[in-house]
Amino acid sequence: MANLPSDDMASFSVVLSQSKHIIAVAGAGLSAASGIPTFRGAGGLWRKYDAISLATPEAFQENPSRVWQFYHYRREKALKCQPNAAHTALAAFSNKQIRDAVAPESTFTLITQNVDGLSQRALDSMPSTADSEDPQPKMLEMHGRLFDVICTKPGCRHRELNFTSPIVPALAGTEDLMEAGAVEPDIPLSDLPRCSKCGSPARPGVVWFGERPHYLGVIGKLVRQADLCLVVGTSSTVYPAAGYAAEVQRHGGKVAVFNLDRSEGDEDADFLFLGPCEQTLPAALALSEQQ
Ligand code: APR
Ligand code: ZN
Repeated sequence: MANLPSDDMASFSVVLSQSKHIIAVAGAGLSAASGIPTFRGAGGLWRKYDAISLATPEAFQENPSRVWQFYHYRREKALKCQPNAAHTALAAFSNKQIRDAVAPESTFTLITQNVDGLSQRALDSMPSTADSEDPQPKMLEMHGRLFDVICTKPGCRHRELNFTSPIVPALAGTEDLMEAGAVEPDIPLSDLPRCSKCGSPARPGVVWFGERPHYLGVIGKLVRQADLCLVVGTSSTVYPAAGYAAEVQRHGGKVAVFNLDRSEGDEDADFLFLGPCEQTLPAALALSEQQ
């Protein structure tokens, strides 16, 4: 029988100290402690809908009112939530001076599937230090951002960051209405978000099923050079992100999984730290005292 992955923090810290190119691949579990529901398992339902069935271009085509209500709910939720200790640990780790203490002369990039913006907020709240010698991106939001809005008109495609709450008046209070047992409002396209440039219907700036994730070229390079991959709070069921850990291992790198539960392929990891990542990750990165 194959060896089970190790859960030994001391051996992990030795591997960490010898790693030169580190990546983290994160998923919804990273934000769970902040109060953002995950997609699969408990919490994967919004109203009576499977969250995943709403995250498609077809769902938006068929019922833009419902899909916008779903993203309005997620935007409002994310605005109320705060980054947790796992976001903060990853943000701290992306600072070269801090990282040098545990993984000297290494690079680090967080590749996140999350669209909630919490990792960016954790990075923004880090004290700024001259980190110019770090040529790599600190973070890549490969599935887009909840607060981006994109024009649906092929000739325009204008994209902008929009933190307005609610994003349009027609979406205000839709969640409370439903909780009070009302019939789902059918909001006309004209009252849903519009492009600020051309006035065409706008859509949430997230990557839906069947669409191409962002930064695949840069991510491909990072994965090919990585000698350590931290897999944080993801079910590892959605590609291409789900394939990165195996790719790192294939060329001799190590993999450490941080998940509340067992996840796809974790038996092949070198390290498996089961438990809430907001506890295990700061401990593993020796950053608990920074929280
Ligand atoms: N700490 C660590 N892991 C956790 C925690 C926690 N506190 N809470 C939950 N988890 C784990 C769950 O055990 C699960 O394995 O987080 C994982 C969440 O999995 P998913 O809900 O499938 O989320 P994710 O892997 O990010 O999904 C990938 O699918 O729907 C799409 O585009 C969406 O980016 C998303 C992608
Ligand atoms: Zn437009």
